[in-house]
Amino acid sequence: MNIITVKDYDTMSKMAAGIIAAQINTKPDTVLGLATGSSPLGTYRNLIEMNQNGLVDFSKVVTFNLDEYCGLSRENPQSYYYFMMENLFKHVNIPKENIHIPNGLAKDTDEECKNYELQIKKANGVDLQLLGIGFNGHIGFNEPDDVFHNFTRRVKLTQSTIEANKRFFESADDVPRYAISMGIKTIMSARKIILVAGPEKREIIDKLREEVCTPQVPASILHYHPDCTVFWAEKE
Ligand code: GLP
Repeated sequence: MNIITVKDYDTMSKMAAGIIAAQINTKPDTVLGLATGSSPLGTYRNLIEMNQNGLVDFSKVVTFNLDEYCGLSRENPQSYYYFMMENLFKHVNIPKENIHIPNGLAKDTDEECKNYELQIKKANGVDLQLLGIGFNGHIGFNEPDDVFHNFTRRVKLTQSTIEANKRFFESADDVPRYAISMGIKTIMSARKIILVAGPEKREIIDKLREEVCTPQVPASILHYHPDCTVFWAEKE
């Protein structure tokens, strides 16, 4: 894992967007793994600008998002589907059928998770996975635990994640308790990974620098990925 300290959030976002655009320009039918949250927002803004200026074409790109809250519909402004539409998809020329986000309203969650894995497999796996990181080291919604969980499944959110994410809801009570998340093995199977983190993530990035791999810090598994770069922005 390569940890690169970047001077500020804008620079980090430009660098991440540049890597993603280069990937798409090299392989127009790239399969992207995408993340939500404030960390990748700047990256998405840059990609939109590049797409609108004709510098990157999304017409053949296929995407798989990391996760979705259980119980929220696509129309719910707090759902990750809504987030992705508002902050990336509706502004670029990606065909709707190429977008994959777990269905948080699926009647049979296990079936939905199995199917999601199958769809990723059918697409021949993820070429480039973009990640954020939670304050507790979660990636996607893979929360600290005694073991690493391999595949896409329903997860119970930790209290610290509910606290961290309540800013998007009216109150902590409104934050869903469960989510569907790609597993650690799903994420690790991506051929290339970039993780973006703002200055508020200093503590958890410092933890990653210790190079200890433990399921109590799920992102620490990335030390074992052959092509993973972490961008940490020192300032806003
Ligand atoms: C959520 C998402 C993660 C994301 C994390 C950090 O919990 N499931 O994929 O990385 O939040 O979000 P932020 O970038 O807003 O700090």
